[in-house]
Amino acid sequence: HLPKEVRIVEMGPRDGLQNEKQPVSTEVKVELIKRLIAAGENDIEATAFVSPKWVPQMADHHEMMQALKPLKEAHPEVTFPVLTPNIKGFEGALAGNAEEVAVFAAASEGFSQKNINCSIAESIERFKPVMEAAKENGIKVRGYVSCVLGCPFDGEIAPEQVAKVAKDLYDLGCYEISLGDTIGVGTPAKAKAMIEAVSKVVPVEKLACHFHDTYGQALANLYACLELGVSTIDSSVAGLGGCPYAPGATGNVATEDVVYMLNGLGIKTGIDLDKLVDAGVYISDELGRKPVSRVANAVLAK
Ligand code: HMG
Ligand code: MG
Repeated sequence: HLPKEVRIVEMGPRDGLQNEKQPVSTEVKVELIKRLIAAGENDIEATAFVSPKWVPQMADHHEMMQALKPLKEAHPEVTFPVLTPNIKGFEGALAGNAEEVAVFAAASEGFSQKNINCSIAESIERFKPVMEAAKENGIKVRGYVSCVLGCPFDGEIAPEQVAKVAKDLYDLGCYEISLGDTIGVGTPAKAKAMIEAVSKVVPVEKLACHFHDTYGQALANLYACLELGVSTIDSSVAGLGGCPYAPGATGNVATEDVVYMLNGLGIKTGIDLDKLVDAGVYISDELGRKPVSRVANAVLAK
């Protein structure tokens, strides 16, 4: 039942860096993106049009869009989605020629309030003008649902609640729904139950798994979801990251670890593992640490 191919959506430059305390320059972010492209990545979330007061690390979103223009010309096959929580964010993305944006909701009220300062229902209302403007401008919209396997504020989340929010986003016109285990608490049977519930209301080929690896369960959870037909995975080079509004959350599952597992399963990604490891070493050196990825460290030790 496993897919033959998986599309990786790279989170490093956005989810990976948004929580970094030390400033990371636009130049370094762009160099990271160049290296990810060289490794064969085609979907790279590049920045977030969110409030610089809330997330200072993404304050260079306008500069990032300028810097991405020549990269886009050189690599038309690569897409750089950006986060847009409201119409103000969308306008910034549009001014920067974004071709894909993402709105982000949560399956829990507690996280919705902490992350985007409004209820789930209010967030859906805020997304409506974004969806309309995106449609007018021919821009694709991805939809995120956070806390699909647990919430740092509200605890357990019912799969039906995840399905409801996913369906709302899909009905609004999101082309794909990315399901976030924001705090990495899920385990495989729970992940499966969640995908089973969501795929009753959104086709499974429109779902992506966005798992943080806080408890070291992400690969096991991903394998469980691959068996159910999921074929899009969000991951972060070197395992960078964490969410500023999820206390203690660590990075997304490392792209190196996902690619290694998929290679072993004979599932194509189009990504060169060695070049990916190099990209992870580059950004980890800039941050003054080792990659979090187990695979990267194993490859480097050889
Ligand atoms: P708010 O305060 O409720 O909004 O913030 P507001 O409309 O009342 O505006 C307040 C101020 O923010 C105003 O500025 C606005 O201009 C400004 P002031 O008058 O005070 O100077 N503002 C903006 N500035 C830039 N870009 C914008 C924007 N909108 C308003 N788009 C808002 C609402 C959503 C903006 C705020 O709560 C925010 O920026 N939150 C940050 C959310 C965020 O980036 N979270 C991390 C990403 S999500 C994530 O990591 C989860 C994910 O990875 C999946 C998973 O793992 O689960 C996707
Ligand atoms: Mg995330």
